[in-house]
Amino acid sequence: MRELLAKYDRPVPRYTSYPTAPHFKENPGQGYYRGLLKAIPENQSVSLYIHIPFCRHLCLYCGCNTKVVDHQAPVREYLGVVQQEIALAAAAIGRRQKVSHIHFGGGTPNFAAAEDLGRLLEVIGQKFTLAADLVIAMEMDPRILNREQTQALVKLGVNRVSLGVQDFQPDVQQAVNRIQPYEHVRDCVGWLREAGVNSINFDMIYGLPLQTPAKIHDNMEKLKQLKPDRVALFGYAHVPWFKEHQKKLEAHHLPDAFERFEMAELARRDLMTSGYVPVGIDHFALPGDALARALKAKRLHRNFQGYTADHEQTLIAFGQTSISQYGSAYVQNTDRNREYKDRVSNGEFPVVKSCPLSPEDIYRRTVIESVMCYGEVDLLAMDDAQQWADMAWEAALPALAGFAADGLVKLGDMDVTVTPLGRVFTRLIASAFDAYLPQAGQGAGVPRHARAV
Ligand SMILES: C[S@@+](CC[C@H](N)C(=O)[O-])C[C@H]1O[C@@H](n2cnc3c(N)ncnc32)[C@H](O)[C@@H]1O
Ligand code: SF4
Repeated sequence: MRELLAKYDRPVPRYTSYPTAPHFKENPGQGYYRGLLKAIPENQSVSLYIHIPFCRHLCLYCGCNTKVVDHQAPVREYLGVVQQEIALAAAAIGRRQKVSHIHFGGGTPNFAAAEDLGRLLEVIGQKFTLAADLVIAMEMDPRILNREQTQALVKLGVNRVSLGVQDFQPDVQQAVNRIQPYEHVRDCVGWLREAGVNSINFDMIYGLPLQTPAKIHDNMEKLKQLKPDRVALFGYAHVPWFKEHQKKLEAHHLPDAFERFEMAELARRDLMTSGYVPVGIDHFALPGDALARALKAKRLHRNFQGYTADHEQTLIAFGQTSISQYGSAYVQNTDRNREYKDRVSNGEFPVVKSCPLSPEDIYRRTVIESVMCYGEVDLLAMDDAQQWADMAWEAALPALAGFAADGLVKLGDMDVTVTPLGRVFTRLIASAFDAYLPQAGQGAGVPRHARAV
């Protein structure tokens, strides 16, 4: 494994979209974007994503798009603009489209006051038709969660929660500037369950400074006591060229590739021993959870929020930096707070980048999603007309043959299966089908993405 890591642990995308965000280019016109919204089929349910880019404290490992503020006023003002953006989109759609999922991501959505989130949900309820079994998911920071807020958010309809836990060790928490005692996380889980939330996810990270296999094992033992329905186990993405505050973590020992591998494997084994089913490359779910069921039924998907059982083809995203997904394009909003506010206040969509999808992109996206979700893909089964399969296979073959020689994949006629040895390199294996990667100079080591393991 040491040799394989030396050879293959290089920067590679996470494939939460294909093409990946660095390849979004075109500046979409207002008419183009309005056209995408108008073209959503009438009988199709959609998902909504709302990005809330504010946090109370800065975690030194953080790679998210967020800003630290110490009071509510900017959050309230921002949510007012998001309401206007929602109204603009609904007007362009021209009817009350049905909504099945709403996801609040961040930043820290529970930093917003419950009454402000309530107003936002009210606007969504006026402009869209809410499904009877609507899922409202929210990413929450346990440090600022209390019993009262939990009850208020559940009253608004929040029924799925992801808690940022990351690590339970006091010294690691100190090093990353995120103090969050186990007992408090335990209380948060208790409040959520008491209020009726029966889908709780924990975000955990390996590869943080001062972590060791023994501490990771202890993290998993503590997690086991609280039994979240799902676990997302992320490798720490150290991208200081992009997030300068991460440089501070270099003052400590940052686990190297082999140590990261050992910790990831240990956490995986511990989670599986505790009854969790591995889902994709970095998620785990109890067998009764929707994610584990979607995996079993081959209805698993990967989108900007990671793995999901949500199968809607359209995700309309609101807020700065957020990315919408339509059948034929991705479109991204500006990441600049001022520009976001000004454009929306002028009745304009704050879109700055788009990526219209060619039929080949859509084919390759399905292939890459299959590798990321199931660790296998049969190119022929994905393309009845075999229009793209031959070309994609031929282009991928040199890389795949190298992976096969090292035992990372098994190759069939026109199918690939990731072996247990290759599992940690799944993103790299998926990248064999990425037609954009060589052009972006990734081979030359442009450090745009985090490492593979
Ligand atoms: C928006 S935050 C979750 C909600 C809330 N802000 C919190 O931290 O509790 C999204 C998740 O991304 C993960 N994350 C952030 N920065 C990361 C990095 N550099 N590498 C790996 N995972 C990271 C963390 O696990 C975090 O919980
Ligand atoms: S990890 Fe979460 S709470 Fe910490 S800075 Fe990032 S978004 Fe904010």
